[in-house]
Amino acid sequence: MNHSETLQSLGITEAMIQSRGLFRYDEATTLEVVETNSEGREFMLAPAAASAWRMMKVAATADGIPLDLVSAHRSVARQIEIIQSKLHDGMPIAEILTLVAPPGYSEHHTGRAVDIASCAADVLEEIFESTASFAWLCEHAGEYGFTLSYPRGNALGYAYEPWHWCFSA
Ligand code: DAL
Ligand code: ZN
Repeated sequence: MNHSETLQSLGITEAMIQSRGLFRYDEATTLEVVETNSEGREFMLAPAAASAWRMMKVAATADGIPLDLVSAHRSVARQIEIIQSKLHDGMPIAEILTLVAPPGYSEHHTGRAVDIASCAADVLEEIFESTASFAWLCEHAGEYGFTLSYPRGNALGYAYEPWHWCFSA
């Protein structure tokens, strides 16, 4: 299946993408393991983002602030699976696309985006915005090249994601 057939199979039209001005991202070609969690899951980032993440994590840890990785690089294939799973649960595609980028349009493909939590209770939850970790990120993430991609009311039409930060050089 080519890319447009894939989008079509998920019920994603060109208009849904164009009307929001979503950006197409290439999948990273070079990735490195930046962390492995307690269940043995490996998180991968592109080299420059990996270095920046490590430096930011050291600084946060020194300040007593937890920055737990929830996701890092994500393949286009995995993005398709996430959307298929939500479709399977009965969520309309228009609603899904406020929470999940269309395959090929996620910053996570680049290996520069991370989803961050401070503890199990705020994983991918808006409540993360009231944690000390979020406050620390707002103050310091920019020093390491990370910015909040989807603030409240963002022009791309995504729901507010206080946990999603993207590195750019
Ligand atoms: N949740 C963000 C929009 C993504 O899927 O990349
Ligand atoms: Zn994310």
